[in-house]
Amino acid sequence: MTETIKLMKAHTSVRRFKEQEIPQADLDEILTAGQMASSWKNFQSYSVILVRSQEKKDALYELVPQEAIRQSAAFLLFVGDLNRAEKGARLHADSFQPQGVEGLLITSVDAALAGQNTLLAAESLGYGGVIIGLVRYKSEEVAALFNLSDYTYPVFGIALGVPNQQHEVKPRLPLNQVVFEEEYQEQPVEAILDYDKVQADYAGARATTSWSRRLAEQFGQAEPSSTRKNLEQKKLL
Ligand SMILES: Cc1cc2nc3c(=O)[nH]c(=O)nc-3n(C[C@H](O)[C@H](O)[C@H](O)COP(=O)(O)O)c2cc1C
Repeated sequence: MTETIKLMKAHTSVRRFKEQEIPQADLDEILTAGQMASSWKNFQSYSVILVRSQEKKDALYELVPQEAIRQSAAFLLFVGDLNRAEKGARLHADSFQPQGVEGLLITSVDAALAGQNTLLAAESLGYGGVIIGLVRYKSEEVAALFNLSDYTYPVFGIALGVPNQQHEVKPRLPLNQVVFEEEYQEQPVEAILDYDKVQADYAGARATTSWSRRLAEQFGQAEPSSTRKNLEQKKLL
């Protein structure tokens, strides 16, 4: 096994941090490593806002009450970004039509790949972190707080810092229920029930609800409206 694979298999999200800063040199390494992720046509359709001031973190926490935001040494807001694309495209054409599903997939996949690279790089230096997708539930307010321009939107954040907690690695679905040979294989409901048990055993006394119940909470209702409204305001839908 390589050191890289060992690191990847040891990943757990960290949501509590010590009151310790991340030196600038480490942040530079983490962010430049993150930037080396592949991107659609090398468009690099994302930006990152590095938040270090406690004031700004607290303001974000007011909108998105996740303790990891407030405690983080650095909070990175990953922004889907076609603002540069607009400027580049208009050098050559009057028409700029980023609205729709493709534009959203291009930007969110690029942001996700860079984000995952960033988190792994941070973990390789002994830091911990957690991705915070809940920023999307307050997309309009978050966009205003960070002065986001047309053709940009918050995809997720990453709270980073020196870990002040350690969890066991969270068990994943069995590999053969996620990776299929040659063609897709729809899974029986028993596979879901089995994983509910695996998750319940992992969570132990900390368990509040089951994995499948969380699926029901997420997908049993219409999506929150703020993401769509903000995307419309930013001319991406
Ligand atoms: C897109 C995305 C958004 C997430 N948003 C949140 C979040 O808002 N708050 C949180 O505590 N964890 C969040 N997480 C972390 C997941 O809950 C976590 O990765 C998952 O439970 C697996 O646990 P592990 O990372 O410890 O292995 C997010 C993860 C992803 C990939």
